[in-house]
Amino acid sequence: MTQRLRVAAASDVPVGEGREFVVGGRIVALFHVEDRFLALDGICPHAGGPLAQGKLNGCIVTCPWHGWQFDVATGQHGINPRLHHSSFTVTVEEGEVFVELPS
Ligand code: FES
Repeated sequence: MTQRLRVAAASDVPVGEGREFVVGGRIVALFHVEDRFLALDGICPHAGGPLAQGKLNGCIVTCPWHGWQFDVATGQHGINPRLHHSSFTVTVEEGEVFVELPS
C-alpha cells in the first residue's frame, strides 16, 4: 500500500537542484532533473547524510558527507550493484508535486 502526498510546489525546486522535505513523517529528497521531478529517501544509507544537499549532475547525486553517489531516478548506488536506496514515484499536477510513500 502507498499513500500519495503533496510534497512541494514545482517552483520550490530549481532545475538541476534538490530540496529536502518532510512528508508523511519521512525525509524526502526531491530533485528537479530537466523536465522531471524524482524523489529518494532523503537520508543517505551510509551514515545518514542529507542527500538533497548533494551536488546533482544529471541524474546522479553525490552525498555531501562522504561522496556516495546514487541515480536519483532509480536509487541505484553508483558502484555497489547490491545497494539500492529507496526511491518514490513522483507525479506533478497543476504545478504541485506529489510522491507515493509506503503507508
Ligand atoms: S553519509 Fe552519505 S556518503 Fe556517507
